[in-house]
Amino acid sequence: MNSEDRRADAPSKIRSVHRAQIDRGPWPDFESFSRAEYSETRLRSAALDWERRANLEYASVHEFAALLDAMTRLGAPASFAGALARLLTDEARHTELCQRMTEVLRGAPLELQPVTPPYAAPPSSNAPLLQWAIDVVLTSCCIGETLSIPMYEALVVRTTDPVAEATIRQIRRDEYLHSTFGWETLEWLLGLSPNGVDADTQRVLSRRLGQFERGCYAGVALSEVVDFEHVIEPSTEPNLGTLSAKDFAVIFYATIESEVLPRFDALGFRGMDAWKSRYE
Ligand SMILES: [Fe+2]
Ligand SMILES: [Fe+2]
Repeated sequence: MNSEDRRADAPSKIRSVHRAQIDRGPWPDFESFSRAEYSETRLRSAALDWERRANLEYASVHEFAALLDAMTRLGAPASFAGALARLLTDEARHTELCQRMTEVLRGAPLELQPVTPPYAAPPSSNAPLLQWAIDVVLTSCCIGETLSIPMYEALVVRTTDPVAEATIRQIRRDEYLHSTFGWETLEWLLGLSPNGVDADTQRVLSRRLGQFERGCYAGVALSEVVDFEHVIEPSTEPNLGTLSAKDFAVIFYATIESEVLPRFDALGFRGMDAWKSRYE
């Protein structure tokens, strides 16, 4: 299929995200959160996690807005814009959900941090713009959103507080769709690229995998805490919607191996090679 054919229509899953109506769950009842039930230390440490989450969600709003601009400049079918608009409103909603959760934990308002983009600004000419879009989708949607699915599944298991759990369930509902958007869109973008997965694109994957491993859990080096015997079970202590570095590490490595690398292989990458050379 040549790149003109590729532009004619979007994959069917992208079309259905764009065409289907959105069914929203009710907003969590933040007013019912009871600070008095928890120690100050527990509240403060959970608030830091939720604040970090709020700022990451806010950064996703920025990324998807920039991607929407890039996709339309690349001539993508309207379904991509429709699906991205859906992702944008989801991430704006996630931002506010995490912001509100932080506020009830802190008992004080939270101002979001202005976004420092993790990518350079989108280039003005088309070939580098395509490479830019491939990088953003590969990183934020394919790796990032695919990791989010089991992270939020684990958060549902761990969380004991009903308001925190309702907030997590709201966000979790959208992550599967976001990850699907990523894989479908990456395949479509690679089809526009004359060389498909070339050496540069393979290197981008490698570098981004290394960055995820280094930066995922608030700067904790995941390789130092991983323990493959570790199982995610309901918390025996109160939990306000947090995962330990160990939880995080075990989910990260399992998902990279069983989900992320095989899906990159299916698109023509050499996933395991990219993983092995992530620090070169
Ligand atoms: Fe999100
Ligand atoms: Fe997401």
